Amino acid sequence: MINITFIDHLQQATRVQADVGTSLMQAAVDNNISGVVGECGGFCSCATCVCHVDASWADRLAPPEAMESAMLESVAADRPNSRLCCQITLNQDLEGLTVHLPESQY
Ligand code: FES
Repeated sequence: MINITFIDHLQQATRVQADVGTSLMQAAVDNNISGVVGECGGFCSCATCVCHVDASWADRLAPPEAMESAMLESVAADRPNSRLCCQITLNQDLEGLTVHLPESQY
């Protein structure tokens, strides 16, 4: 288990524990984090799991693959460090990961 912090658009932080090997989207859904929908179940096809990785973590994640980048462009997620939570697989190196959530996924 690792600790993840979600910060909503009102700057309210929620810290959860999540299993290594699961996606950040699943960790959010399992912990009822409002602001992450995960409508497609993690198949990189809905963009209802957009987050913004905290600047302190931006260089510690593998960059998005082409499909994720294309999806992010299609929803105009032009804020720095935008990612799809479903495309981030949690591992031990992500202990303490902090992400910010938009006001809405639509
Ligand atoms: S859950 Fe659909 S794109 Fe991430």
